[in-house]
Amino acid sequence: MMALSLLLVPVFGSACLANVWDLDISVKNTYRTVQWDLGTPATAYDLLFDTGSATLWVLSGNCSDQCPNSSGYPRTTYNLTSTGEAYYNTTDSIDYDGGEVSGYLVSDIAEAQGTNVSFYQKFASITSSTWSTLGADGFLGLASSTIAFPNTTAPFENAMQLGLLDQPRFAIYQGTGLSTVANPNPDNNGVLTMGGSHEDVYADGKVEFVPINTPFQVYKAKFQGVRGSNHFANQNEQHGSLKWDGDVVFDTGSSLIELPETHIAAVYNMTPWSYDQLMTGYRPLCSDFNNTWSISFTFGTDDTHKTFTVTGDQLATPGYVDDDHCFPPFNPWGSNNTILGARWMSNFYSVFDFGSFEPSGYDLRIGFAPLKKEYQPIV
Ligand SMILES: *[C@@H]1O[C@H](CO)[C@@H](O)[C@H](O)[C@H]1NC(C)=O
Ligand SMILES: *[C@@H]1O[C@H](CO)[C@@H](O)[C@H](O)[C@H]1NC(C)=O
Ligand SMILES: *[C@@H]1O[C@H](CO)[C@@H](O)[C@H](O)[C@H]1NC(C)=O
Ligand SMILES: *[C@@H]1O[C@H](CO)[C@@H](O)[C@H](O)[C@H]1NC(C)=O
Ligand SMILES: *[C@@H]1O[C@H](CO)[C@@H](O)[C@H](O)[C@H]1NC(C)=O
Ligand SMILES: *[C@@H]1O[C@H](CO)[C@@H](O)[C@H](O)[C@H]1NC(C)=O
Ligand SMILES: *[C@@H]1O[C@H](CO)[C@@H](O)[C@H](O)[C@H]1NC(C)=O
Ligand SMILES: *[C@@H]1O[C@H](CO)[C@@H](O)[C@H](O)[C@H]1NC(C)=O
Repeated sequence: MMALSLLLVPVFGSACLANVWDLDISVKNTYRTVQWDLGTPATAYDLLFDTGSATLWVLSGNCSDQCPNSSGYPRTTYNLTSTGEAYYNTTDSIDYDGGEVSGYLVSDIAEAQGTNVSFYQKFASITSSTWSTLGADGFLGLASSTIAFPNTTAPFENAMQLGLLDQPRFAIYQGTGLSTVANPNPDNNGVLTMGGSHEDVYADGKVEFVPINTPFQVYKAKFQGVRGSNHFANQNEQHGSLKWDGDVVFDTGSSLIELPETHIAAVYNMTPWSYDQLMTGYRPLCSDFNNTWSISFTFGTDDTHKTFTVTGDQLATPGYVDDDHCFPPFNPWGSNNTILGARWMSNFYSVFDFGSFEPSGYDLRIGFAPLKKEYQPIV
């Protein structure tokens, strides 16, 4: 009896407790985070999950003046614990688009919250940060260890290499993006899944994959063009398409869609507004963000590329001074690459597939599928 019941446990266990980590997404000051525990006893940290960087960092407990906090929320800081080890002579700084941090190397026990799977992880204890408005205690970088803080392996790759996960992939349902402080249990809470993906739950149709550029640093695919189409009368009748040399970067750490400043005016010509008009202070009405127009991005290799379309209503972000006006959907930046941040990605279920648990076997691809109606973000 005893032996049989014991034998049955792993059978059920492998079916129900697979090594797939489903981490609920929280939203504070529009920053999307997941919770990880660090140290002994375990302390929970809200970490901004960022596909544009590769380091896990948390603010050091002794960082006060050098880590200004205007987020409006208290932050949980890290102090060395009984299972931790600090390497004060291994220091570095990381320069992000929105801020800069510097600190030293630490090793301690980590656990993605709710998984009961703990392991040693190297990360950075930050002693200086300019991320003053950040509504998080640190970052969870999901890009390649080749660009991570010295001597650290990016946490997802570390978990893969330690054999903790079912599949060499992670997947993101971004959720509504509404503050989980004001609304702690939103209907459509986002989920970051590590070690598997749930397109059966979230996706309306097939996930379409394209290869990620090598060498793998961040999630970049070759840009193959942008197309606009619209059905509205009077203004901007063109059904244009454009192509330039560049890449598309999938970056959950950015909320925006950023386009090369040299091409942005031409892309705006495919929308209801001209770039000149927006640059001189015109504020778009949210009602003009509707499904009479759409923008399609094509990316991937010359052989394997896919086109993904979003309609005007899927690009609306209300609150440009008031709720009737929406922020311009695209922002300029000084690069030939296009950044598809949360505003674009939140319309899709996204799957980041490494093809192998070991770096030597990586064959990275990224896939997107439209969301089922019930999972689409509420604007
Ligand atoms: C770390 O130390 C600082 C300063 O003493 C303290 O404010 C903070 O609460 C500590 N953090 C943890 C997680 O104990
Ligand atoms: C915090 O501690 C680290 C490690 O001891 C040290 O390098 C750093 O200067 C300290 N920072 C402050 C503000 O005391
Ligand atoms: C951050 O700001 C909040 C709210 O103003 C405050 O309660 C907290 O003490 C500040 N500092 C840290 C390290 O949390
Ligand atoms: C840094 O300190 C560690 C011990 O804490 C030592 O093993 C390592 O060799 C040192 N590295 C350098 C570059 O000094
Ligand atoms: C983790 O452990 C707790 C306490 O033993 C248990 O309630 C929970 O179901 C476990 N979670 C997972 C994902 O195994
Ligand atoms: C960091 O990596 C360098 C180069 O591989 C190595 O020499 C050094 O010992 C490592 N330091 C720590 C603290 O692991
Ligand atoms: C949809 O957007 C177009 C272009 O901005 C605008 O002309 C039209 O009035 C909008 N339709 C509705 C129903 O608001
Ligand atoms: C963008 O591409 C053009 C044409 O290929 C090139 O001349 C320019 O230097 C590039 N700009 C940047 C910022 O890389």
